[in-house]
Amino acid sequence: MDEVFPELTEDVIARMKNGEPRLREVVTLLVRHLHAFAREASLTQDEWRAGIDFLTRTGQKCSESRQEFILLSDILGVSMLVDAIANQAGHGVTESTVLGPFYAGPQRELNKGDTILLREENGAPLVMKGRIANESGVSIVGAKVEVWQTAINQLYDVQDHDQPRGHLRATFRTDERGEYEFKTVLPVSYPIPSDGPAGQLLQRLGRHPFRPAHVHFMISAPKYRTLVTHLFLAGDKYLESDAVFGVKPSLIVRPERNNHVHMVKYDFGLAWG
Ligand code: BEZ
Ligand code: FE
Repeated sequence: MDEVFPELTEDVIARMKNGEPRLREVVTLLVRHLHAFAREASLTQDEWRAGIDFLTRTGQKCSESRQEFILLSDILGVSMLVDAIANQAGHGVTESTVLGPFYAGPQRELNKGDTILLREENGAPLVMKGRIANESGVSIVGAKVEVWQTAINQLYDVQDHDQPRGHLRATFRTDERGEYEFKTVLPVSYPIPSDGPAGQLLQRLGRHPFRPAHVHFMISAPKYRTLVTHLFLAGDKYLESDAVFGVKPSLIVRPERNNHVHMVKYDFGLAWG
């Protein structure tokens, strides 16, 4: 079948010829793909209106504490794709994954070995420790290690007024051997916020909103590329179907158990900046 209205696409693109170079390059590709999408799907006017209505509701759901567009990008795999383009992990470099919407900015600094809990949790105690090194395996002293996770009720402190602010999140610095260590509880799987347009889309597409249990890490040091990643627990039933496609096999850990305390030892590698 002949392409519908091809000269329209070329006209839209030609009108950007005086635009800023990178913006023009990106918007040209966006227009080409959007037009190709409309043609290939034989998009009806009702469907296009429904799409615009969906994006409108997505914007309306956004607030200081809620970023529905990031959730949408996450559940469509775009966040992981953009992350993969930016952060190629070579030899000695830990793989990255999504930041997610629950990183809450600067968090309290604790000392090596401290607990990140600000209240008791009815979960199994977990110690996480290891070394931060560069691509050549040389320890990085004083690297900033930021960690965060949900409570056993499947909520982050920023989602739950009953939790003390800063509960289950903290910042550590690696010691003179490049090592970090902290105490926490075994993380649990949890649903991403699904009471908005992204959640409705998941439901209508026959998908669940769950993420497998994980602890978030953001590791930074001068002259190195900041590493944003998670460690996932082996055996979680959502590892194969993470709602945001964030799981990579190299990030799955199996805690060792010593009496009632679990321990994860994991070394991270940072790329040169
Ligand atoms: C998270 O792991 O915190 C997260 C990531 C993407 C979307 C929602 C939550
Ligand atoms: Fe998370």
